[in-house]
Amino acid sequence: MKAIIIGFMGSGKTTVSRLLAQKLGCRAFDLDEYIVENERRSVKQIFEEDGEDYFRKREHELLLEILKEDAVLATGGGTPLREDNRMAMKNAGVPVILLEASSKETFERLQGDDTRPLATGLDETSLGNLKNQRRQAYEECADYAIKTDEMTPLEITEKISELL
Ligand code: S3P
Repeated sequence: MKAIIIGFMGSGKTTVSRLLAQKLGCRAFDLDEYIVENERRSVKQIFEEDGEDYFRKREHELLLEILKEDAVLATGGGTPLREDNRMAMKNAGVPVILLEASSKETFERLQGDDTRPLATGLDETSLGNLKNQRRQAYEECADYAIKTDEMTPLEITEKISELL
C-alpha cells in the first residue's frame, strides 16, 4: 500500500484516491467496490439481505486482503470503527489520511443518494451527529487530517502527495 484514505461518507475518498493513484502511477483500490465485486451485489443489497454485521465482517476480511496491494486505498466510511481494522491500517506502515468535510457540505453531497444505507433519510443534524460519533475512531488511526470544504479534489491530491 502507498497511502490509505479514510473519512466519513461523502468526504471524497474515492475521487481523491483515484487522482492520487494516477499521480503516483499505481492502482487505486476502493474497499466498497472490492466488497461489491466479491459479493456480486450492491452495498445496499448486502445490508438489506444479510445486515450490517455481515457487511462489517466482509469489510474486515477484504481489508486485510487488499492491504497487501501496492496501491492507494479508499476505505468505506465505517472501516475505522473496528479496532482490528484501525490496527491493520496502522500496521500497514503507510500514511493514513483523513478527509474531513463539514456536516453541511457532507449533507449536500449525500442528498438524493440511496446507495448508502446508513445515510439514507438522515437530516443534516443526524448526519452531523453520526459524523461526530465517529470522529475519535477516525482521529485514532489518521496520521494526517485535511479539511476539504474549500478545496478541489486536485488540490487535496496535491496536498497529500506533499505529505507522502
Ligand atoms: C459506510 C460507508 C460506505 C459503505 C457503507 C457503510 C459507513 O462507504 O461502506 O455504506 O458506515 O459509513 P463510503 O464512505 O464510501 O460511502
